[in-house]
Amino acid sequence: MLDQLNQLEEKALTALEATADSDALAEWNRRYLGKKGVLTLMLRSVGELPRDERPAFGRAANRVKVKLEAAYEAQEQALRRAELARELEQGALDVTLPGRPVGPGHLHITTQTLRQLYAIFAEMGFQVYESPEVETDELNFGLLNMPPHHPARDMWDTFWIGEETLLRTHTSPGQIRVMRERYPETIRVILPGKCYRYEQVTARSEHQFYQVEGLAVGRSITMTDLIGTLTEFARRFYGPERKIRIRGSYFPFTEPSIEADMDCILCGGEGCRVCKYSGWLEIGGAGMVHPVVLQNGGYDPAEWSGFAFGLGIERPAMLKYNIDDIRLFYRNDLRFLRQF
Ligand code: FA5
Repeated sequence: MLDQLNQLEEKALTALEATADSDALAEWNRRYLGKKGVLTLMLRSVGELPRDERPAFGRAANRVKVKLEAAYEAQEQALRRAELARELEQGALDVTLPGRPVGPGHLHITTQTLRQLYAIFAEMGFQVYESPEVETDELNFGLLNMPPHHPARDMWDTFWIGEETLLRTHTSPGQIRVMRERYPETIRVILPGKCYRYEQVTARSEHQFYQVEGLAVGRSITMTDLIGTLTEFARRFYGPERKIRIRGSYFPFTEPSIEADMDCILCGGEGCRVCKYSGWLEIGGAGMVHPVVLQNGGYDPAEWSGFAFGLGIERPAMLKYNIDDIRLFYRNDLRFLRQF
C-alpha cells in the first residue's frame, strides 16, 4: 500500500508538471485531489488495512496530500503568470509606431476680435496698456468718483475677494493706473482685458467678458475728438457706410457722458429683431474724463482734459458675425469655434 502511495505521488507530480493551462490543471485536481480522486479514494481505503499498519499509512497519505496540494497551488500561480505575460505580449503597444498627428489650432474669436481692435486703434495712435484683473475697491470705484455707498456702484454687480479687493467689473480702473504712471505726459492708450460681474448669465450677458477701454488725455481734447474716434472705429470695424448717433448718458467717471450707437448692420436702420426694431445698435459708453478722475490720476483739470470710452468685445463680435448667444464663446464647442 505504501508503495502504491509513492507511485501515485510520483505520477501525480509528473502529470502536474505537464499541465499547460487552467483547464488541464482543473482536470488534474479532479483526478487526484477531488472527491472521487485517486488519493481521496486511497485515504478512504485505510480501514481495509491491518490495524497496526493504519497509522503509518495514514501519516504517509496525509504527507502526500499536503505535498500535492502545495504543488497544485504553485503550478496554478505559474500558469497564471504565464497567461498574464502572454496577454500582455499580445496586447502590447508598439511605442515605435508614429502617433496620430495633432492639427494646429487657431486663434479664438475673442482674440481675433481683440487683435482687430488693437490694429484699428494702433493706426489712430493708441498704445495697448495692460492693467490687473484683481483690483482694489478704491481703483474700481472710489478713485473713479464712486466713494463708498455711492448709488452708482449698484450699476456693477461685483465679485468681492476681500473687504478691499475684488475682480474688476470694468477696465476703467486702468485709467487711474495709466495716468499715475504717465503724468505729465499726454496719453493715448487702450486698455483691453477681462472683466467680471456677478450677474445672471443670459444670451447677451456673461459673468466673465472682455472690454477695451480707451483713454486720451491732453491739453485741448474735446468731445469732438471722442466722437471722431468712435465714428472712425465703427467704420473700420463694421464697414465704411456706418452712421453714428450720440445720446446723453450717465457714468460717474465721465462728464458729460454719452452712449454711442450706430445704425443696425443687419437692417441698415429699417428695424429688425437684432436692433429690437429701433434701427440702432449700442457701440459703448463714453464721455469726457471727469475732473475728479483727472485729479485722482494726477492731472490738473484746469490745464488738462481727456476722453474715455468702454467697449465690449463679445457683443460687437456677436453683431459682426451674427452670433445669437454669448454663452457660445467660452463653451469650448469646436463646432462653434472652428467657424471663425
Ligand atoms: C462700463 O463698464 C463703463 N466702464 C464704460 C465706460 C468707460 C464709460 C469709460 C465711460 C467711459 P457698461 O457697464 O455699459 O459700462 O459696459 C460697457 C460694455 O461692456 C457694454 O456695452 C457691453 O458691450 C459690455 N458688457 C457689459 N456687461 C456685460 C456682460 N455681462 N456680458 C458681456 N458684455 C458686457
